[in-house]
Amino acid sequence: MRFGSQIAWLFVAGGALSSAASSSNCSLTSSDTDVLEYTWVLSNFLNSFYQTVQLNQSVASLVSNSTSSSKALENLEGIVHADNLTAEAVREVSSQAPDFKEPSCQYTFPPVSGIQSFVKWAYQFESTLSGAFIGAAGYTQSPEVAFLLARLAAEHSAHATWIGSRVNSSMFQANATSLVPAYAPSQVLLKTNETGSLGTYLGDCVSAPKNPCGVLQIGPLEANITSSSAAGSSSSSVAGSSTPLTSASATATATSS
Ligand SMILES: *[C@@H]1O[C@H](CO)[C@@H](O)[C@H](O)[C@H]1NC(C)=O
Ligand SMILES: *[C@@H]1O[C@H](CO)[C@@H](O)[C@H](O)[C@H]1NC(C)=O
Ligand SMILES: *[C@@H]1O[C@H](CO)[C@@H](O)[C@H](O)[C@H]1NC(C)=O
Ligand SMILES: *[C@@H]1O[C@H](CO)[C@@H](O)[C@H](O)[C@H]1NC(C)=O
Ligand SMILES: *[C@@H]1O[C@H](CO)[C@@H](O)[C@H](O)[C@H]1NC(C)=O
Ligand SMILES: *[C@@H]1O[C@H](CO)[C@@H](O)[C@H](O)[C@H]1NC(C)=O
Ligand SMILES: *[C@@H]1O[C@H](CO)[C@@H](O)[C@H](O)[C@H]1NC(C)=O
Ligand SMILES: *[C@@H]1O[C@H](CO)[C@@H](O)[C@H](O)[C@H]1NC(C)=O
Repeated sequence: MRFGSQIAWLFVAGGALSSAASSSNCSLTSSDTDVLEYTWVLSNFLNSFYQTVQLNQSVASLVSNSTSSSKALENLEGIVHADNLTAEAVREVSSQAPDFKEPSCQYTFPPVSGIQSFVKWAYQFESTLSGAFIGAAGYTQSPEVAFLLARLAAEHSAHATWIGSRVNSSMFQANATSLVPAYAPSQVLLKTNETGSLGTYLGDCVSAPKNPCGVLQIGPLEANITSSSAAGSSSSSVAGSSTPLTSASATATATSS
């Protein structure tokens, strides 16, 4: 009898799973294609940046400090390798996105005058990608795209923290009021040379994805959809143009605190 009731329970569990799976359609949409093309460009840009420098013991000794410089070189090479893996992950998920095309980009890179400036830019770009992928996760309704972006954000945050902690001993503050920064796509595409923006380097090869649900207001701790009136394709350009101001200013506050 006990045995029988376990079998009944298994049937119920199986039924619940299959009806949950069929009750909604979680296929990637053209909106996800835009998010993935944007994600691909950011990943590809950072990989291309790393290709422009030669990692060697001199670079490693700058970032080594207490670690041995051969360990530091190993870590830097590991970071470049992991960044290649992120591009591959984007490519694999993109194969499910309708009409995905790798944008064709002509990047410009900031002047790297020496090892010191290479490390500064590597830190800035890793931080920017971490925040950009957190921000992009607010622009999808697909579990698979959200999963990819969460993983990429964690990967780049780890890289940024390691590089940053080599060159700045004060990375975390006890009086901080914000979690790790998050940047809306419109802010990431702004043409400044500050952390959080890459527009200067991307040559306008991708545009900001539009939020399918309204305007995402990014705060220091969480983000809210503040308006659903703009949802839907016909009015989404309105949402797109109002996103920059709200998200960028909210993020700037979060970043500077
Ligand atoms: C889910 O939606 C996509 C695109 O909107 C469509 O191609 C696909 O056939 C749908 N799948 C199911 C199981 O309804
Ligand atoms: C090491 O790499 C840096 C940056 O790519 C470069 O400026 C430097 O000249 C290289 N040093 C040696 C010894 O190759
Ligand atoms: C990363 O990918 C580039 C281009 O595909 C390749 O040239 C490079 O060797 C790879 N680097 C690592 C560390 O995997
Ligand atoms: C690493 O060493 C450099 C140069 O010696 C120094 O300026 C920097 O503060 C050190 N960084 C840390 C995190 O100790
Ligand atoms: C070091 O990190 C702290 C805390 O994040 C930041 O306020 C400061 O500007 C950083 N300094 C440098 C030289 O990057
Ligand atoms: C947080 O603490 C640091 C040093 O402990 C200080 O320089 C900074 O002004 C403080 N920030 C705020 C917002 O209180
Ligand atoms: C960033 O841009 C400003 C103004 O465009 C310029 O003055 C500054 O030198 C740039 N900083 C770097 C590190 O390139
Ligand atoms: C999100 O909504 C909560 C609850 O209404 C509010 O406290 C918070 O300030 C909002 N945050 C942003 C970034 O709009």
